[in-house]
Amino acid sequence: MRILLLGGTVFLGRALAADALQRGYDVTTFNRGRSGPDLPRVTAIRGDRTSDEDLEVLAARGPWDAVIDTSGMTTPLVEASTRALARSVGRYILISTVNVYTGWPTDPLDDDSPVREYTPVGPPGESGADEYGRLKAGAELAVTTTYASRATLLRPGVILGPHENVGRLPWWLNRVQDGGRILAPGRPDWPIQPIDVRDVARFALDAAERDLAGSYNLTAPIGSSTIGELLGLCQEVTGVKGELEWVADAFLREQGVPEWVGLPLWRDYPGTWHVDAARARGAGLVCRPLAATVADTWEWVRGGIALEGERFAELGISRQREEQILAAWDARRGGD
Ligand SMILES: NC(=O)c1ccc[n+]([C@@H]2O[C@H](COP(=O)([O-])OP(=O)(O)OC[C@H]3O[C@@H](n4cnc5c(N)ncnc54)[C@H](OP(=O)(O)O)[C@@H]3O)[C@@H](O)[C@H]2O)c1
Repeated sequence: MRILLLGGTVFLGRALAADALQRGYDVTTFNRGRSGPDLPRVTAIRGDRTSDEDLEVLAARGPWDAVIDTSGMTTPLVEASTRALARSVGRYILISTVNVYTGWPTDPLDDDSPVREYTPVGPPGESGADEYGRLKAGAELAVTTTYASRATLLRPGVILGPHENVGRLPWWLNRVQDGGRILAPGRPDWPIQPIDVRDVARFALDAAERDLAGSYNLTAPIGSSTIGELLGLCQEVTGVKGELEWVADAFLREQGVPEWVGLPLWRDYPGTWHVDAARARGAGLVCRPLAATVADTWEWVRGGIALEGERFAELGISRQREEQILAAWDARRGGD
């Protein structure tokens, strides 16, 4: 198989490159060479996908059986690459997101839930997450318009694992390792369903190999793990027990802790962790246990990674803020 990765050096792209090389594929990556080195043994083509000229140079280096687009974050960017590569790739696999659904993150979702309508300009006051969903919905449209049955849309929920650039699991691992009294969000039995980056990569490459068309949610099974299990695994791998203090959702909101980012993965809508991925599972998606994801991510984090990307910066609350909230929680309970 000849595979082109638009990206390939950070998180999912990197996992795709590693898996594809292991399968013996001929792997080409296309990126600017800014975010990190390519894996050895890929054919790395330097270029910027915002440049039509660079895309033309890339297209001339084909053909490929499939392209997997991890870096298509806006509609115009994906429109440009779908046009440029139309005659150079057999299948266009877009890494989209569950944010394309109108019901995300409040409602339970399945593979056929309604998708946002793409408009080039969003409504006034649109949140970053809604903008992301709108632009990815437009990206999906660009891919299906050009590639029809040669289009594959993969919609992962939260992805965790080694090299995670958002920093959600690294943040919790570091927090637990610091020990002491740890502000744990909500209640321990709150279900979560993150998917390991390597399972997303495997499904995407299988889709390329088996010429799978259509759209697929990619999440671990609903209810397959809980936030309590996740934090317990963090305690286990770091060897630091600390003291988990479960603080009620309503109290956290009252304290102004921003959902999703303030305490990573914390959000108690009924839909956020209720995404059904039946179509992918029927097509062979297998999800490894969360314990493997946490252990392997810890191996990577403890190797001394630089937690300094822009995504890391927006995550988490400070230790000082955590102590204030815990003190307020104690006072509230003392007064009950
Ligand atoms: N993390 C999650 O929980 C989650 C959930 C759902 C969906 N997703 C989706 O999963 C994907 C994650 O991808 P990733 O960041 O892990 O992929 P990646 O392929 O590992 O990293 C992004 C790549 O894009 C390249 N790139 C960025 N801008 C470029 C440009 N203008 N021209 C050429 N190359 C460019 C970067 O290299 P250079 O900077 O060197 O160019 C880098 O190689 C995204 O599409 C995201 O929407 C993520």
